[in-house]
Amino acid sequence: MKAIKILSACLLLLPFVSCTQKANDKGDAVTEKKIETLLSKMTLEEKLGQMNQVSSYGNIEDMSGLIRKGEVGSVLNEVDPVRINALQRVAMEESRLGIPLLMARDVVHGFKTIFPIPLGQAASFDPQVVEDGARVAAIEASSVGIRWTFAPMIDVARDPRWGRIAEGCGEDTYLTSVMGAAMIKGFQGDSLSNPTSIAACPKHFVGYGAAEGGRDYNSTYIPERRLRNVYLPPFEAAAKAGAATFMTSFNDNDGIPSTGNKFILKDVLRGEWGFDGMVVTDWASASEMISHGFAADPKEAAMKAVNAGVDMEMVSYTFVKELPALIKEGKVKEATINEAVRSILRVKYRLGLFDNSYVGEKKAEILYAPAHLAAAKQAAIESAILLKNDNEVLPLQSSVKTVAVVGPMANAPYEQLGTWAFDGEKSQSVTPLNAIKDLVGDKVQVIYEPGLTYSRDKNKEGVVKAAASAARADVILAFVGEEAILSGEAHSLADLNLQGAQTELIRALAKTGKPVVMIVMAGRPLTIGEEAEFSSAVLYAFHPGTMGGPALADLLWGKSVPSGKTPVTFPKMVGQVPIYYAHNNTGRPATRNEVLLDDIAVEAGQTSLGCTSFYLDAGFDPLYPFGYGLSYTTFKYSNVKLSSASLKKEDILTVTFDLENTGKYEGTEVAQLYVQDKVGSVTRPVKELKRFARVTLKPGEKKNVSFELPISELAFWNIDRMKTVELGDFALWVAPDSQTGEEMFFKVTD
Ligand code: BGC
Repeated sequence: MKAIKILSACLLLLPFVSCTQKANDKGDAVTEKKIETLLSKMTLEEKLGQMNQVSSYGNIEDMSGLIRKGEVGSVLNEVDPVRINALQRVAMEESRLGIPLLMARDVVHGFKTIFPIPLGQAASFDPQVVEDGARVAAIEASSVGIRWTFAPMIDVARDPRWGRIAEGCGEDTYLTSVMGAAMIKGFQGDSLSNPTSIAACPKHFVGYGAAEGGRDYNSTYIPERRLRNVYLPPFEAAAKAGAATFMTSFNDNDGIPSTGNKFILKDVLRGEWGFDGMVVTDWASASEMISHGFAADPKEAAMKAVNAGVDMEMVSYTFVKELPALIKEGKVKEATINEAVRSILRVKYRLGLFDNSYVGEKKAEILYAPAHLAAAKQAAIESAILLKNDNEVLPLQSSVKTVAVVGPMANAPYEQLGTWAFDGEKSQSVTPLNAIKDLVGDKVQVIYEPGLTYSRDKNKEGVVKAAASAARADVILAFVGEEAILSGEAHSLADLNLQGAQTELIRALAKTGKPVVMIVMAGRPLTIGEEAEFSSAVLYAFHPGTMGGPALADLLWGKSVPSGKTPVTFPKMVGQVPIYYAHNNTGRPATRNEVLLDDIAVEAGQTSLGCTSFYLDAGFDPLYPFGYGLSYTTFKYSNVKLSSASLKKEDILTVTFDLENTGKYEGTEVAQLYVQDKVGSVTRPVKELKRFARVTLKPGEKKNVSFELPISELAFWNIDRMKTVELGDFALWVAPDSQTGEEMFFKVTD
């Protein structure tokens, strides 16, 4: 038996010195000197120009005027290397001071080679696969001259109605922290100055994922304790990982829009975390403070944003237009402007843009390189979650001679890319249908009858036709889900059931009596309880990206074994939302002996059902809990041991356990460590994920695995508004998901 140490996640906890910053320490004094020299030569207009980001428009000449005058610091949404060089040439050679432009783009889950949506990547619980994906994205994007991405999106999101849940890592603070840091490492590489590195921009700072009712852009009401315990840690981890920039969020929290929130932008980000990079607004979020009713006009909006700590404004031009007067009137200090410009120039120097301003114009072979496609396929394999597998219908065996491929997502090259795939081309997508045909050759007959042409299609005739064709197959593979446009920004839904006639399709397929394998491609957890009942197996693939097809074909035929786990709780019905595992306990937790809707007697007495916290109709549980996912093989956890049952604050707890593959296939299990602080000065979550590890085992193989958890990581923001570990009793679970595992105990003492 081998011992595996799970240390990588601990790296997040190192004192506040990022890898990138460390590498830059020596150069920093030199850089700071360069910044001061340049700053001293800049006019106010040139300084404000650096604080201005424009979205690419028109022809080069249209944009050149402003750039020549030094009135633009950054351009977003330009992806043509020839145009990028042309614009850069104007900045470098025709503007007075020759300050390079910072070219930006939303490279969220791949540039050309599209990886699974971030929520899917989070399901892999594999920081390495996530880092690799971001590295590929950086290599491809930088090859056309993009040096700044607006990613990772690390908004903790506990409401699947919110379309943007697709862009983040789900509901958990720790998982989001680990994955966000991995993406930053991938984007920024070993050093920002490497021409293949792109500056990361963790977003949206902060609390956007808690948008009320899951409606996009909505207000949030997050008290400071929850902000510090749940929503801020991923951003703190991002700052520690050396993220070069941060983006503000659209939401107002308790009445203060993030773009005008000094507490968040100055006190926390710069004051507490020591961040010295650049803060950009979200798209027009400075001027949107007017709609919020937080600023009367563009002038007040500019004043509030800059005084709160914003450095660069994305596209709403209030800074360039309004700041000259505000400075004259003393409402904004020139020192504030200088600080903002320093931050911007610092990022440009760190990226090496002054020395390496241009990009090679003919590097097409980098895009969709075979290694990139292989990495995207691996990510899609690891992102898929096996939610059900009755009678071991999967993996498909050689006895399966005919398969029916059905459903609107089976051959939808655009839809499988998901949201925020601006530059990915559907012509490069390999769909499940094509990949299956490729994989099985002439050994298996493939009947293709989509039934529905797109996910919202309500055409019942197609359903009947598909069911009739599918009845001839040994196994039915039903690819359902939601089109890419149904998730992402401004694409919230109040109904999380499968759209169109997809439920009818699954019902009709089940009626054939043939085993139905439902494969779901979606941007969020959908309420698929009924369809799952009708299916023998369910594989949840999210939007799997360019190589989704080959990944799914491999999984279906057992060339790969599913290992994904839910990064977010799947509700049974939308009325359960918000539903997440790390909730606080009520004074009346459900006993599970309560009476549910169908068993309530007529004229039942008010107190006869059990006065506890549950839904009469939805009961106690979600459809699938956080951290859940099956494999083709089975795993047995045993022999869980703690290094000590009593520890001090400065100790490290080592938890060891045996993990055994008790099934027939080699497989990977994501083992999880949860902890509960039993009694706190404020109520604490019933469980919190603290560590996880992917462990690969051959059939019959057993390994001894160990988690190391510094007790300092049990700290939280307590009743005294201090982050501290409180002494007392803790419960601990080593488990395959957030709902199982044997409860163990330890103490933290003086
Ligand atoms: C989104 C950001 C994005 C920006 C630039 C905004 O609408 O909220 O996430 O980075 O646009 O495209």
